[in-house]
Amino acid sequence: MSERIVTMLSQEAIAARVKELGAEITAAYRDKNLTLVVVLKGSFVFAADLARAIDLPLRIDFLGVRSYGEGTETSGVVQITQDLSKPIANEDVLIVEDIVDTGLTIAHLMDLFRTRNPHSVKVCSLLHKPARARVSVQVDYLGFTIEDKFVVGYGLDFGERYRNLPFIGVVERA
Ligand code: IMP
Ligand code: MG
Repeated sequence: MSERIVTMLSQEAIAARVKELGAEITAAYRDKNLTLVVVLKGSFVFAADLARAIDLPLRIDFLGVRSYGEGTETSGVVQITQDLSKPIANEDVLIVEDIVDTGLTIAHLMDLFRTRNPHSVKVCSLLHKPARARVSVQVDYLGFTIEDKFVVGYGLDFGERYRNLPFIGVVERA
């Protein structure tokens, strides 16, 4: 069985949108203590570009989360595989996600972080698939709303592959 990747969002379109998000976040967090919390693994590419588009002396921390098996359906169980390296008390936390799909991951992380007394917690996601929402979550900074297709690239995987594609595409089986 062979797979073909059809481009949904080009490298150029992503770069332009990331720049805009960076400017928006820079303006909003000018007098705050911004900590980007990067949700691994899928967000590592987006976060690397976004962080460099934000003109502030921010902090970055990483959180390992697993909610998927090998397939394309969420297990519904969100598992923390690696916790933050520092407390977030009094920090203005911006969770950086690759995609909000069912919303379960973000809902879980919002609940978890609120117990740690940050000054604020908001969400920045490159992609949102509203068609699949199971819980309602607010995405404060959003790159693109996409239709209900399983996408790969720019950090997103299908069975751990395709994270290194510089664009976002849909897997088609030939
Ligand atoms: P949620 O908890 O259902 O919102 O899903 C969040 C996580 O599922 C994301 O951070 C991704 O890692 C993964 N995910 C959801 N949709 C896709 C997709 O279309 N492609 C690749 N990974 C996805
Ligand atoms: Mg994933």
